[in-house]
Amino acid sequence: MNYPYQINSFDQYQSDYKRSVADPEGFWAGIAENFSWRRKWDKVLEWNFKDPRVEWFMGGKLNITENCLDRHLEKKGDVPAIIWEPNNPEEKSRTLTYSELHKEVCRFANVLKNNGVVKGDRVCIYMGMVPELSVALLACARIGAIHSVIFGGFSAQSIADRLQDARAEYIITCDGAFRGAKDIPLKAIIDDALVTCSFVKRVIVFERTKTPVSMIKGRDVWWLDEMKNAGDDCPAEEMDAEDLLFILYTSGSTGKPKGVVHTCAGYMIWAAYTFVNVFQYQPGDVHFCTADIGWITGHSYIVYGPLAAGATTMIFEGIPTYPDAGRFWEIVDKHNVNILYTAPTAIRSLMSYGTAPLENKNLSSLKTLGTVGEPINEEAWHWYDQHIGKGKCPIVDTWWQTETGGVLISNLAGVTPAKPGYATLPLPGVQPVLLDEKGQIIEGNDVSGNLCIRFPWPGILRTTYGDHERCRTTYFTAYENLYFTGDGCLRDADGFYRITGRVDDVLNVSGHRIGTAEVENAINMHSGVIESAVVGFPHEIKGQGIYAYVIFTGNLEGDLTRKDIAQTVTRIIGPIAKPDKIQFVTGLPKTRSGKIMRRILRKIAEGEMSQLGDTSTLLDPAVVEEIKKGKL
Ligand code: PRX
Repeated sequence: MNYPYQINSFDQYQSDYKRSVADPEGFWAGIAENFSWRRKWDKVLEWNFKDPRVEWFMGGKLNITENCLDRHLEKKGDVPAIIWEPNNPEEKSRTLTYSELHKEVCRFANVLKNNGVVKGDRVCIYMGMVPELSVALLACARIGAIHSVIFGGFSAQSIADRLQDARAEYIITCDGAFRGAKDIPLKAIIDDALVTCSFVKRVIVFERTKTPVSMIKGRDVWWLDEMKNAGDDCPAEEMDAEDLLFILYTSGSTGKPKGVVHTCAGYMIWAAYTFVNVFQYQPGDVHFCTADIGWITGHSYIVYGPLAAGATTMIFEGIPTYPDAGRFWEIVDKHNVNILYTAPTAIRSLMSYGTAPLENKNLSSLKTLGTVGEPINEEAWHWYDQHIGKGKCPIVDTWWQTETGGVLISNLAGVTPAKPGYATLPLPGVQPVLLDEKGQIIEGNDVSGNLCIRFPWPGILRTTYGDHERCRTTYFTAYENLYFTGDGCLRDADGFYRITGRVDDVLNVSGHRIGTAEVENAINMHSGVIESAVVGFPHEIKGQGIYAYVIFTGNLEGDLTRKDIAQTVTRIIGPIAKPDKIQFVTGLPKTRSGKIMRRILRKIAEGEMSQLGDTSTLLDPAVVEEIKKGKL
């Protein structure tokens, strides 16, 4: 038995798509009927992209955890909701059935209440990939608290910035997190962050690594102790469809990450609808999304999408190459994984080990493969298809963003056509348009331009936390009445979409979004740095690497100084933003008005020295020659 809202054929896709455009309100009301509501909506949609203001299912009341947990209890109470695979393969994996997960969530929701958390409070979650991380998210949602998960690769300074922006007074963390051979001291990092965040009232610590931690009296409590004093019964808070569900910070082209806001009903429906349709989930399938819950992919396709669909979702604590490069395949074999959803960077990294790690691994349970986060090169696509899917598993190339809540453009596994390197066709409800430099819509096929969306879908972001104007200027002012994605895109002769990458100053490093301005700000914190400019360059495994041009004063000691600067970036942002290459320069190519000509720096970093274009308008054209000579 599949889902009432599941698209079963290409014909159905086409007719559903048409209906979603002709009558969006009727279409989405029909989908929303499949969820559990305390009170039905009065109006399906009101919107304008000017303010912007988007409201779905107005007046509707619900709680997302009743949809993710309670409503499955009767028929699926004993079905695994979460299968957890630890970092160390010698350690036992854990399974939580829907009944068990429900109980844990209710108990922890009571812990939150006992610690003073009430509806509308912001709760920051900084944990490793343990089942308790999902429990923490759901417990917040249960009582109407707004969670903001921070990926474990962010530094104390990044955490402090986010805590201050969200004014989060509660934190849930772990003593440490196991990732491969490393043990990341999460609680110690939180302690550092809290030096500048004295408004934080409570830190709840889950013990995972037994790393020694210092517990501050009156502020820090242990998860386990608190759970002992909490009851199992916690009725879900009744939430308005448009109440905030979570904030998730993401990088843009300015120096400061912004808190993308998603709300309860629209996000839930989008996550579940896209989960079921893109992956063609069938009840009983085991879904393995390898992302971290600290990113939107984990929110939507480890936690909310699968659980809203009553699916079985895997959580993997470790990394693909630990203890060896066969780990993903071992997990697929051990847990009979049916759907594997990962990033091109992981595929390229595993590909570099050849096929030896695949030996003696039974991958025959696999039915569907997926990729996300960056364009997938054809070589990686074919390797994935041939060696992992054995030529029999459809590959879904899913294009979307933190802001979109779930997949917007993708083939539907085995139902709509695939094409290597192409995200292919928009999901029902998604109306993409391409724009030229003059802001005109480009009609027809075999064209490329900047990708915008002209109509809201239920999962679109509603605002950026605490700064609606920023939301407006970032996404809704580049082109009038359109949501601008920041991506370049081509539409081929058949009308299939291929995302070509960011057109703004945002890098995509291993599928992670990093703003160049953010990295520059961090580099400039080093006392010896006068100025810097950061661009991306093609990187075999990461997709894009970070290339920094730095003007340095004082004692330059080559690699030692480079290391020092890299460490500064790690301290300010986190290890994910560490530059791969640092070139010391005496000047940067600037226009007469003082603007850095990034295009030139990008070309040099890419090694395309002969295509620098006109440099005569520069303040000091000679600087370009020097930079070319010193290229790393
Ligand atoms: O440039 C696009 C790229 O990732 C960006 C969104 O990043 P983030 O908000 O971190 O979300 C990543 C996971 C959804 C997009 O603007 N991107 C994402 N998926 C694809 C992609 N580029 C090409 N193909 C994709 N399938």
